[in-house]
Amino acid sequence: MASRMDRALLLLSLWALTGTVSLQASGSCPERLVGEERRRTCPRPCKADKDCGNKRQCLCDGQCGLSCVAPGRTCPWPLPPSENSVARLLSPTHSFSALFEVRCKPGFALPNGLDVTIRRCQGDRQWSGDEPNCTEAESPKPPAVQTCPLPEEVTNTFSIQGDATVGTSIRYSCLSGADIVGSSENFCQDNQTWQYPHPICKTVYCQPPREVEHGYVVAVQKIEYETGFDIHYLCKKNFLLDGPQKVTCLSNGSWSATPPYCRARCLIPAERSRVMINGVKRWPFDVTDAMVPHGENVAFYCKHPHKQCSFTAPQTCFDGKLQPPACYLEPTWLQYKLFPHRLVSEIEACKPSDDLEV
Ligand SMILES: *[C@@H]1O[C@H](CO)[C@@H](O)[C@H](O)[C@H]1NC(C)=O
Ligand SMILES: *[C@@H]1O[C@H](CO)[C@@H](O)[C@H](O)[C@H]1NC(C)=O
Ligand SMILES: *[C@@H]1O[C@H](CO)[C@@H](O)[C@H](O)[C@H]1NC(C)=O
Repeated sequence: MASRMDRALLLLSLWALTGTVSLQASGSCPERLVGEERRRTCPRPCKADKDCGNKRQCLCDGQCGLSCVAPGRTCPWPLPPSENSVARLLSPTHSFSALFEVRCKPGFALPNGLDVTIRRCQGDRQWSGDEPNCTEAESPKPPAVQTCPLPEEVTNTFSIQGDATVGTSIRYSCLSGADIVGSSENFCQDNQTWQYPHPICKTVYCQPPREVEHGYVVAVQKIEYETGFDIHYLCKKNFLLDGPQKVTCLSNGSWSATPPYCRARCLIPAERSRVMINGVKRWPFDVTDAMVPHGENVAFYCKHPHKQCSFTAPQTCFDGKLQPPACYLEPTWLQYKLFPHRLVSEIEACKPSDDLEV
């Protein structure tokens, strides 16, 4: 491309330079444009040879127009060698209207970017144009890495795998963890545009969590809940919270935990016998409402099958259910009233040596 342009310009300048010479024959030569000529001096202007002295002729002298020149006079030749260029005479002589070519050495160029120029021998015995100055051609800059644009709203929404350079692909994943709507992969095309539009992250809502029996929800009831929404739970009086006090709507539409349960207290299934609660031996009627909270261990006193001693059998209250152990026998009202010291819960505890299996 560049070389074709070079050649076109070269031909054009050749035409311009030589044309003046041949045009003069047909009587057309550029008018002398005072002030426009690029050289300091022009020979005397003329219209015909008779306007000049006998040694001169009226010839076209480039931008000086028709001028009285001595056609035999020569321009300086050879020229001092130049470091960065090579000069070559294109005409048989170096007299008036001779042409020579200055070609920059490889890697050098003229200020106008071309690497060749042509100069003409003028009537003032000078070569036309400026002294050519071939300087080291700017080495073409390494092409900048071409990328496709990734606007801030995209990088704020997605974690991007891959660098957005031309000819490569990237992968998106929603920073929120939400699902992607659209293509999760994109290709950076040669013209620095993306093959597909950027995807979007689905806005995810959490469905209302299941209701908690015997509990209160400390939150506005909604059809769906946005990410980050907290629901706090409280249990009704005498119910124990079993599970998280709070659940949060996660960005993937799940709750941070399953809702808690509100667990009921248990009635101690003994009346006329002491039980061990929390390391303390107590009459059930001395315990508030004769009830223990969910999760509480209650140890019942059972009688040794063969000996006059007692051992404990623990049971755990679970959400209102507390079964007495199989070995426990509720004393009768008479036993309780008449022989309180003989109640199983009041007699001596069996020793480890009192084998229960016997
Ligand atoms: C040639 O061009 C260079 C760089 O533009 C400049 O420094 C130098 O003076 C010029 N030489 C001549 C002889 O004009
Ligand atoms: C970029 O190139 C692609 C594929 O070659 C083409 O479909 C798209 O129209 C081009 N976009 C622009 C802005 O030139
Ligand atoms: C949602 O995310 C949480 C925590 O990152 C994870 O434990 C849970 O399994 C996810 N739920 C779904 C439906 O992907």
